Amino acid sequence: MVPQPTLEMAQGSPARLDELRLGWEIYRGKCSGCHTLWAPEKCSPQEWPTHVDEMVDRKKVRFDPGERERLLGYLCTAAAH
Ligand code: HEC
Repeated sequence: MVPQPTLEMAQGSPARLDELRLGWEIYRGKCSGCHTLWAPEKCSPQEWPTHVDEMVDRKKVRFDPGERERLLGYLCTAAAH
């Protein structure tokens, strides 16, 4: 299950919600090509950066500037919910 960002996850901030939604779209767009998407809560907020960087180093995932941070913003926030 890949939960859609909610206002609660964004701690009530519409601007933060927009950022989380961008991260969610990056996750669905860039990470679903080779395997099903991992539920964010499968990994801790401390583990996600390592996994994302592994995919970049070993699986040739490429991000535009800012996308890695947006993706991690979504994954780490959703992991904590
Ligand atoms: C080009 C194919 C490909 C893409 C794109 C890809 N992955 Fe993976 N991923 C794999 C494979 C294959 C594995 C199985 C383990 C291995 O071979 O290293 C894996 C394993 C994983 C794992 C399990 C932990 C591990 O390291 O084994 C996680 C978490 C993960 N991927 C997250 C992601 C995320 C997040 C993205 C997007 C940034 C992503 N993957 C994009 C191929 C891919």
